[in-house]
Amino acid sequence: MDLHAKYPALSDLRARARRRVPRFVWDYLDSGTGTEATTRRNRAMLDRVLFMPSILHGEITSDPSCTFLGQSLQVPVGIAPVGMSGLVWPDAERLLARAATQAGLPYTLSTVASQTPETVGPEVGGKGWFQLYPPRDVEIRKDMLRRARDAGFDTLVLTADVPVASRRERQVRTGLRQPPVLTLRMLAQCAIRPAWSLGTARAGMPTMRTLEAYNNDTTRRDPTAHVGYMLRTSPDPDYVRWLRDAWEGPLVVKGVLKPSDAEFLTIQGVDAIWISNHSGRQFDGAPSSIEALSAIRPVTDLPLIVDGGFEGGLDILRAAAFGADLVMMGRPFHAALAALGASGPAHLIDILRKDMLANMGQLGFRTLQDARGKAIWDRGTPLTDL
Ligand SMILES: Cc1cc2nc3c(=O)[nH]c(=O)nc-3n(C[C@H](O)[C@H](O)[C@H](O)COP(=O)(O)O)c2cc1C
Repeated sequence: MDLHAKYPALSDLRARARRRVPRFVWDYLDSGTGTEATTRRNRAMLDRVLFMPSILHGEITSDPSCTFLGQSLQVPVGIAPVGMSGLVWPDAERLLARAATQAGLPYTLSTVASQTPETVGPEVGGKGWFQLYPPRDVEIRKDMLRRARDAGFDTLVLTADVPVASRRERQVRTGLRQPPVLTLRMLAQCAIRPAWSLGTARAGMPTMRTLEAYNNDTTRRDPTAHVGYMLRTSPDPDYVRWLRDAWEGPLVVKGVLKPSDAEFLTIQGVDAIWISNHSGRQFDGAPSSIEALSAIRPVTDLPLIVDGGFEGGLDILRAAAFGADLVMMGRPFHAALAALGASGPAHLIDILRKDMLANMGQLGFRTLQDARGKAIWDRGTPLTDL
């Protein structure tokens, strides 16, 4: 089947994914916190970034590839960490890691994924990224780093924007708890989603397997809290310094929005800064990630990663224009997987590449460097100089 004819854009994959997973699963993947204004703001602000199409540039060949932390990538894209990924689609962590590795792109495994570094490690070819929710206990911390490194994860990502559990009211309304316990209402939702239900029955109900080695206390606290919150701390500057000393490979800090935090992290010797508002899942009054990117690029020379609401090749060019080196995507890759199974993530990568090429052609960009500084906010400077 020609997937591009049937699913030319991420929106097609999202629509199909939504029809293939139970309602509570979709709400888990898709919900923000509060009124979800920050989730919407990410998208709304991306739409406000404009370029001036170029004419009379003659025939050009565009190349959307880049190098990031020493690795050559066909497109500047990677897979962001998603906790309980395996709830969205059975075996999601291994399938996504495999697809990313086959395409030569980075895959980030969450601390609260439903599979462990040991089971996902064989899929990442020694080039995996491991996302750390920072354990309070120093022995657990050391053990997690050792496990990640031994399993083939060479890049460590410290997530710094989850100091406490968020309320995520939509998720609460669906009745989803961690670990999941199926209510009658949820079972009724599963009954009309046979592919998800059969796959999940085969794979077993997902749990946070990496953390189970450290804590079997499944006492419920508030509804969106889980075993992760019992183990993790809210990191401070000393925590970053400790990690910098303890981890030999690249260290990335995720959840940065404020330029002064980016300056501090630059001085601490981290290798890249990951600009993110957690797609509005943690705090509902944050700036969009594209706004934060435009404020942070001038204050550091470090490689910048950005995520939150990026949906297509044009969005990736918007990020490049404001100085991002890599765009991470979480929900889109999960939607692709839920829509088409194992072939979904590769199809999404192909959509992104084709969309980048089409837009680079319109803009007269040969390389991603050509995009730098070429966009403006629709409320901003005169368009004439682009
Ligand atoms: C269901 C879900 C679970 C997530 N779990 C984690 C996590 O465990 N660790 C983390 O650092 N970020 C987590 N995130 C945030 C993503 O890594 C990423 O910042 C965000 O989803 C990017 O936006 P996008 O989904 O629009 O691409 C999660 C996001 C979603 C949607």
